[in-house]
Amino acid sequence: MRDAYRREINYLRVSVTDRCNLRCVYCMPPEGVEFLPHDEILRVEEIEAIIRAAASVGIRKIRLTGGEPLVRKGIKDLVRRISNIPGIDDITMTTNGILLPFHAATLKKAGLKRVNISLDTLKNERYREITRGGKLASVWKGIQAALDAGLHPVKINTVITRGVNDNEVEDLARLSLKMPLHIRFIEIMPIGDGNAWAGGLVPASEIMEKINRGIGRLDPVDAIEGDGPARYYRIAGAEGTVGFITAMSDHFCETCNRLRLTSSGGLRPCLYDSREIDLKTPLRRGAGEKELVDLIMDAIDMKPDRHHMHEGWTDRKRVMSQIGG
Ligand code: GTP
Ligand code: 5AD
Ligand code: SF4
Repeated sequence: MRDAYRREINYLRVSVTDRCNLRCVYCMPPEGVEFLPHDEILRVEEIEAIIRAAASVGIRKIRLTGGEPLVRKGIKDLVRRISNIPGIDDITMTTNGILLPFHAATLKKAGLKRVNISLDTLKNERYREITRGGKLASVWKGIQAALDAGLHPVKINTVITRGVNDNEVEDLARLSLKMPLHIRFIEIMPIGDGNAWAGGLVPASEIMEKINRGIGRLDPVDAIEGDGPARYYRIAGAEGTVGFITAMSDHFCETCNRLRLTSSGGLRPCLYDSREIDLKTPLRRGAGEKELVDLIMDAIDMKPDRHHMHEGWTDRKRVMSQIGG
């Protein structure tokens, strides 16, 4: 299915919960957000029905996001159901990794292909501060569990903010030398609580320069299995790679291939665009696949040509944890 700008839309990011077991400073307000009552969250069967309809119009890849997807009850059942939907050939997850030691092996068995794990620092105290209480050792156990379970390629999401963790760029990039990890440096976006931190944006070009100078030359490599916007490089001899997600300095909207489904059943045409098509209400009054397909096509038609994040964040409805990144 192509949108109005001839982009092929084949990737659906599904936020399965607005809850999280961390409170990252750029993602959620300190007091948390008012979590949606149980009833307003899509049920597993409802998510399945939407994905089935989406698959019939060309969605091939599903990424489960949150909040934190692993706090959602029934997540394994959901993965299993999605893996049985004809047309879906890739199921992945973006997680903070904390609960992976308990779930990695069973998720793999249920049909999950791979995971992206958030990690912004290698320092215990700093991790506690950024996540407002998280334990770095738990993430490391999660990363190990993902590698052991064969959820390859394991990618690490690192948001660099000036004055917070920009002095760790080289240490983080060095993780790719001896481990099969793909460290993706993400430019901070002014979304939700990220808006307050966006002044700390460190452009990817500066990070690349630091790595080139401090560790060794970054050689471009083909995309590491995935459908997202990262561009990848390898330091000579490294097991893994280093990637860059340049949402601010060099947006990638012309190759945009995705839609987002929020946990309350809103279909968003773009991360930055606050318009949403409500799928939950029609579903709960008995909409069949044909009606869902029409609404999904409407969302595809609504996709903007690009984001306008440089103009600031005006969506008062949602923060990042409620969209799923
Ligand atoms: P793969 O390439 O399939 O591994 O996944 P991905 O990079 O698309 O997914 P992930 O959830 O790990 O996202 C990494 C970062 O990219 C997060 O900060 C997302 O918010 C950001 N991102 C993902 N999709 C988009 C997008 O469409 N637009 C923008 N601006 N940022 C995005
Ligand atoms: N800008 C860029 N990336 C963000 N993430 C969360 N908030 C922001 C933001 N404001 C990242 C997280 C996670 C992914 C889903 O999105 O670090 O890895
Ligand atoms: Fe697509 Fe919007 Fe992301 Fe641009 S910002 S790549 S248009 S979702």
